[in-house]
Amino acid sequence: MNYFVRRTWDLPQSQHTSEQEYAARKQLRREFLATMGLGAGCSVLSALTPGCQQATLEQLEAAGAVEIDASMYPAQRDGRFEYGRDETERDEAARFTNFYEFTASKSVYLHVDKFQPVPWTLEVTGLCAKPRTFDLDDLVKLAPLEERAYRHRCVETWAMCVPWTGYPLHKLLATVEPTAAAKYVRFETFNRPQEAQQMSSSRYPWPYSEGLTIHEAMNELTLLTTGIFGSPLLKQHGAPVRVVIPWKYGFKGIKSIVKIELTDQQPTTFWNSLNPHEYGFEANVDPGVPHPRWSQEWEWMLGSRDRHRSVKYNGYGDWVAKLYE
Ligand code: MTE
Repeated sequence: MNYFVRRTWDLPQSQHTSEQEYAARKQLRREFLATMGLGAGCSVLSALTPGCQQATLEQLEAAGAVEIDASMYPAQRDGRFEYGRDETERDEAARFTNFYEFTASKSVYLHVDKFQPVPWTLEVTGLCAKPRTFDLDDLVKLAPLEERAYRHRCVETWAMCVPWTGYPLHKLLATVEPTAAAKYVRFETFNRPQEAQQMSSSRYPWPYSEGLTIHEAMNELTLLTTGIFGSPLLKQHGAPVRVVIPWKYGFKGIKSIVKIELTDQQPTTFWNSLNPHEYGFEANVDPGVPHPRWSQEWEWMLGSRDRHRSVKYNGYGDWVAKLYE
């Protein structure tokens, strides 16, 4: 995701190690070695330094871990959903993430140490009879958690297959009793530049926000998500709570949400306001509609780099096509 014109001498973002990222990796390595009481030359965390092996799962999780009661995980798998492809490795998914509040690179896990996802509250407000603010404990216990094997398709053409844990968003919305006037749902991420370095940049319209129609939000597929791979969400995946909307491009799946608002107006959203020609409000996966700068006909899987033809609604047409008739 970007809205800058790439210069011909720039490497593709996937191959790029910025100076900032290099410095962050060095710093992380120094801190880790100091914590472990190990001297220079120890190779335990060499995986995080450029030119060496990639970070292991343990290292990724140490960087992104959240202190949360994990006793409710893993949740029972919902048998209605199958990937139809191989599951993405957990560490591949944790290493390559989008979270612009921290960095425009994919190595978000190197930049999340200051982020505090606990304690957390989520306000649900706007056009409803019973607006309410939930703390994390209330939120996680509001409905039975279930695990769903979903395909994920980013507008940038990468894809993954991962098990998310949560419950349908409609269960949360039902508790606040939306009024008949509620036509859209607006979501908002936290706004804490002191914990997320790129939020100090005035290039972006912080806080990150997204939106759905009320019918999309109430669809059975739209998942209020608190976990991944049988554990609470890592910071880089949007701890402690995000949404996952598997028939839409990944940027609609807003992370680390603090507010959900029911409204009668189509909300302004982060990428759409930055570049409406490239990132529409609806943003359903559709190989027939190319991005202005690249085709959407194919996607490649994190880890294996296997290529697959993209499918309208990411293959979830049976669940959602009726929303658009
Ligand atoms: N939510 C916030 N708050 N900030 C972001 O930068 N990136 C989006 C989405 N949610 C983003 C966000 C994009 S572009 C994608 S593809 C998905 O998160 C990626 O989810 P993942 O990084 O957990 O795979």
